[in-house]
Amino acid sequence: MVDYPKAFVTGYPISHSCSPQVHRYWLRLYKLEGWYEPVEITVEHFPTFIQSLQERKYCGGNVTLPHKERAFTLAARCDRTATCIGSVNTLWFEEDVLCGSNTDAYGFICNLNDCAPGWIRNTAIVIGAGGAACAILFALKEQGFKKILLFNRTRTKADHLADRFGQEVFVADLDSINSYINRADLIVNTTSLGMRSSYNSNKNDINIDFTNAHPDLVVADIVYTPRVTAFLKNAQKEGLKTVDGIGMLLHQAVPGFERWFGIRPQVTKELRSHILITTQEK
Ligand code: ATR
Repeated sequence: MVDYPKAFVTGYPISHSCSPQVHRYWLRLYKLEGWYEPVEITVEHFPTFIQSLQERKYCGGNVTLPHKERAFTLAARCDRTATCIGSVNTLWFEEDVLCGSNTDAYGFICNLNDCAPGWIRNTAIVIGAGGAACAILFALKEQGFKKILLFNRTRTKADHLADRFGQEVFVADLDSINSYINRADLIVNTTSLGMRSSYNSNKNDINIDFTNAHPDLVVADIVYTPRVTAFLKNAQKEGLKTVDGIGMLLHQAVPGFERWFGIRPQVTKELRSHILITTQEK
């Protein structure tokens, strides 16, 4: 009989997920009795899995690709953030009611605060129009950005996404992105372009010319394998401040851990080094 809190991370596939390393690190650090495990579930079996969480003795867990939108529809109660983003990455029970939130926006902002203190909240450029872009747009609007320029390979997807976020978000053609760089205080890549899996087939780099950028521009990528993507390297060559995706991964895990295991964990340099070793090896 398991009497300690047990949480999961589910996705398909799930072997790439670093969440078990993050949560197990904190469980050890805070000497807590608890368990966090990866569970690979196909799209077809996802609803049944969610319905069986209590039977499986889970107090909650994380949801990753491709299940985040489905989790939003299956959770009985979702908070405002999950509702605005339309997807859930963190689940927990409140008196047998399955609740859901999305902590990606929170993780993104905490990471910027950590790595680029004093970052300017005025004009942003966001590249991509998938689920990750949606969380970033929500985060930036919450932070009070007055203008957010959205670029995506498939423009219609960007148009649809922008429609959900109101008048601060403008869409332009990806081909024209270089003519907007000098107006930006923050530029975020939310696409999977720099990821190691697509990295070696170098057709995939986003060619941004940072030479006219504002010297205070902060350049962020949500990809963390490799830690420094080609996109970030280009920005670094121009002496710009860059923020990699590892910190977002760590910070987004904090609210879930606190709900399941009762302690609000710290994102430290030591945790970052520990996870960097794991992720760069994967
Ligand atoms: P997620 O939910 O993780 O954001 P997604 O919905 O698959 O993932 O979105 C991936 C994003 O990366 C999309 O904006 C996609 O552009 P399209 O909408 O045109 O598909 C972008 N993307 C992926 N591969 C790309 C490539 N080779 N060039 C440009 N954009 C790319």
